[in-house]
Parts: sequence; C-alpha cells; structure tokens
Amino acid sequence: MQPTVRTPAPESLAALRAEAAHCRACHLWKDATQTVFGEGPSHAPIMLVGEQPGDKEDLAGKPFVGPAGQVLNRALEEAGIDRDKVYVTNAVKHFKFVPRGKFRLHQKPTTPEIRACRPWYERELAAIKPALVVAMGATAAQSVFGKITPIGKNRGHLIDLEEAGNETKALVTVHPSYLLRLPDEESKAREYANFVKDMKIAAAFLHKLKAA
Ligand code: URA
Repeated sequence: MQPTVRTPAPESLAALRAEAAHCRACHLWKDATQTVFGEGPSHAPIMLVGEQPGDKEDLAGKPFVGPAGQVLNRALEEAGIDRDKVYVTNAVKHFKFVPRGKFRLHQKPTTPEIRACRPWYERELAAIKPALVVAMGATAAQSVFGKITPIGKNRGHLIDLEEAGNETKALVTVHPSYLLRLPDEESKAREYANFVKDMKIAAAFLHKLKAA
C-alpha cells in the first residue's frame, strides 16, 4: 500500500501572528519596536505584499498606515477595491532603519533578510490561499517569486504563481513609496495613474472571479 502523503493543515492567522511576534530569524527584531504582521480577512481573495514596515507601521504594529499607506488606500479606492476585503502584508516584517537625529531612516532589506522572513509569507499564503498576490516593489517581487524579478519587465499582467497552486496568480507593480519619492508633479501624476491602472487589473480579476 502506498503511504499517504499528508500536506500540513493550513495554520490560523492568529497562531501565525502570535508566533511571528517572537521571530528571531534575522537580526532586525533587535532595533524594531515589534513584528508587523499582515492584516486582513483570513480568506481574502487578494493579498497585497509590500517591502517592510516603515516608521509609523513599526510604532502602530499595522502594515501600511503611514504615508505610503495613504497612497495605497487612495489607489485601491480609485480602482474599486475595498481595503478591508484584502489582506495586506510585507515581505519583511520588522522595520529596518538607521537613526539620524530624531528620525529613523528606512533601509532597504538585504537578500538574506528577505529570505529569513520568507517563511512567514509562505505560511500566510498557505493560510489565506488568495486568488491573486500583488507584489508592490522590488523587495516584494523578490520574495513572492523567490528571485530577483524586475518590475518594469513584469508589471501590469497576471503571472501564474506556481508555488501557490495553479489557481493563484500574481501581479507585479511599483511600491507606493516610489510614487512619493518622484521629484516632480508630472512624473508623480503619471506613475500614480499607472499604479491605479495595475490595481484596476486586480479589480477586474476579482470581478471575473466573482462572476465565474
Ligand atoms: N512600506 C511598506 O512596504 N510597508 C508598509 O507597511 C509601509 C511602508
């Protein structure tokens, strides 16, 4: 008789969150205030993945509550996506920064830090089983695809996410913080419109899913 192969039962998000609160998989926990775990419905059809919590998120313990979160909220609304119905998380779950006077300056996570944090993303993915994962920015894309994935070449279309099963798709777009860093109003407006356009692809995918 063939042995039965059992895949582990998906874990509850509450259990994952509690375990992640004590994560020591890399050194970033030492300076951060707390682990900022993902947030949203446990069976959300869309999972949005950012880079890492910023200053405001580190203090609040919630993802995308600062300036980048405001840009994200506005774009989701314009695309017709209710933020309360999506799961929002980050590739790296501790704030990485260098102190500068009274400020804490964001630092980009390294590949070892992204890899150390990836099991949390994998476990969130297995628990939620979203139909669509939206990777916002290079760090998120690196985590979601498990390799460096250029945004320009991959953005704006649905990609099969083999790891998560045949049904799950991925969409790559820019990070909302990128929009805040653009130097002039013209490029800000253009890039924001492109970001909303990408979010509308996610919205259209959702509508199709609901109609099926
Ligand atoms: N940038 C991110 O990538 N995630 C957040 O939660 C906030 C800012």
